[in-house]
Amino acid sequence: MTARPPLGRLNHVGVATPSIERSIETYRTLLGATMIGAPFDLPAQGVRVCFIDAPNTQVELIQPYDEGSPIAGFLRKNPQGGQHHVCFEVPDLHAAVAHLTAGGATVLGEPRIGAHGTPIVFVHPRDMGGVLVELMETPRGDAHD
Ligand code: CO
Repeated sequence: MTARPPLGRLNHVGVATPSIERSIETYRTLLGATMIGAPFDLPAQGVRVCFIDAPNTQVELIQPYDEGSPIAGFLRKNPQGGQHHVCFEVPDLHAAVAHLTAGGATVLGEPRIGAHGTPIVFVHPRDMGGVLVELMETPRGDAHD
C-alpha cells in the first residue's frame, strides 16, 4: 500500500471556451472579475490559456487553436464551452500518481509541465465520478503569485 498524499487546495477550475476574449468579457461584466491575466499560448497542448483570479482560486479559460487538441474535441460536443476540469494541488506529484495507480485509477499520460509551469497530471473521469481532475505539484503549497 502506498502512502496516501494529502489533498491540497483547489488551484483552479478549467473552463473550455470557443473565445477567450468573449469569456473574459463575461467574467468581467457579469461577475465583476478584475484580476485577469494576459492570455498566452501553450503550444504543447495546442491551446490558448487565460487565468482569472478569484480571492481563493482561479478560473483557467482554455481555447483550442489546434483541431487535434482534446479541448477542440470537448468543444465539438459542447459548442458553447463549459466546465472542463478541476485542479487540486498536491505536494508530491509522483507520490500521488503512485498512489492512484496502485489503487487502480487511470492517470492520463506522464507528468508534464502545465500552464503554471509546474508538473501536472490528469486523472481519468471514470475514476473520479465523471470529473476530470488535474493534480498540480506545488511543493511550497502555494502556486498563486
Ligand atoms: Co488546468
